[in-house]
Amino acid sequence: MRHYLDHAASSPLRDEAREAMLAAWELTGNPSSLHGSGRRARSLLEDAREQLADAVDAHPGEVVFTSGGTEADHLVISGAAAWGAEHGRPRVAASAVEHPAVAHAVQALGGAGVRLPVDSDGVVHGEGLAQLPPDVGWASVMWVNNETGAIQPIDGFVEACRRAGVRAHSDAVQALGHVRCSFTASRLDALSLSAHKLGGPVGVGALVVRRNAPLAVVSHGGGQERRLRSGTVPVALAAGFAAAAAASVAELAAQAPRWAGLRQRLVDGLTAVGGVRVNGGAHTSPAICHVTVDGTRADDVLLLLDAAGIDCSTGSACTAGVHQPSEVVLAMGLGEEAATASVRFSLGHTTTAADVDALLAAWPDVVARARGARPTQPDPGETRAT
Ligand SMILES: Cc1ncc(COP(=O)(O)O)c(C=O)c1O
Repeated sequence: MRHYLDHAASSPLRDEAREAMLAAWELTGNPSSLHGSGRRARSLLEDAREQLADAVDAHPGEVVFTSGGTEADHLVISGAAAWGAEHGRPRVAASAVEHPAVAHAVQALGGAGVRLPVDSDGVVHGEGLAQLPPDVGWASVMWVNNETGAIQPIDGFVEACRRAGVRAHSDAVQALGHVRCSFTASRLDALSLSAHKLGGPVGVGALVVRRNAPLAVVSHGGGQERRLRSGTVPVALAAGFAAAAAASVAELAAQAPRWAGLRQRLVDGLTAVGGVRVNGGAHTSPAICHVTVDGTRADDVLLLLDAAGIDCSTGSACTAGVHQPSEVVLAMGLGEEAATASVRFSLGHTTTAADVDALLAAWPDVVARARGARPTQPDPGETRAT
């Protein structure tokens, strides 16, 4: 029997999402077509938009469906830079611990990217935000970190952006359905979401964005989704996403304390072995537990856990199957060794106490064996992050 503790990479499909998609796949028609079949598809799409807007507390007109969190991040970072280039605010700031979907999009801007430093818990502070250069048009700080689970002070971030006349974006891919998340209350200008992190299908996400947000169009085509994201909208995937989001938000009040209890059990059990430290500080998602295991390489720990029937990951990029030092851990100033010795356990709607107990039963032996293992050599190749 396998124990799946990698929900932050992708969470199993929820029944609600499966049912919504099965019904939608019965439909024929392109939601942009004007005939009866098209209108039925459009009506289902607009129902999904309303349901998702409700789950994230936004107006339906603010929901732009995308192919996932990566595309939502790209639309906002590239759209912000292109808009800013024409309006005297060409630079885009982002925290040093962003997912590659934001981090690499900002790096691709070259000199137009501004890095916001974080503390040893991976949290952005007021000082970094107070010093935003005057030519920054947009800034991006993720809501929940995908590696450590650290929750960023979104209120303070938005407040600092307002004072500086900067538009605020947050990657909330690991937040929705895991912590309370309201687009309206946050006063953000834009927010990125992904379906498969909360039990929806892979291949769909959303950019929730104010209707007057200053973004240039960087995806050209048929002009769907307020012209911000051209391409035929996958109605069935949107319906599955909306159903999963609604279910996970409805369950949050019950799930959050349940996950918090399981996470505490994990923290206690994992750190009972010497030389194991929990990262992310005091305010983390209840669904993510990230630990540094001194004297190991994360790849060895993951392989040994895999052999023991436990699925987990580092959450950081891997190249040709070997994990690279975590950029997030490096940005937190914990050093190169910690950056290659950290693993992430993430919980979701199917996680049980038995999953946690199986991990804790295997843990002392896995750590001892990983500490005795020889170092592995990274190969050049494809880079991936989850
Ligand atoms: C914080 C964060 N942002 C963006 C993404 C990318 O989302 P998607 O897989 O939907 O493109 C992920 C998942 O890998 C993530 O954890």
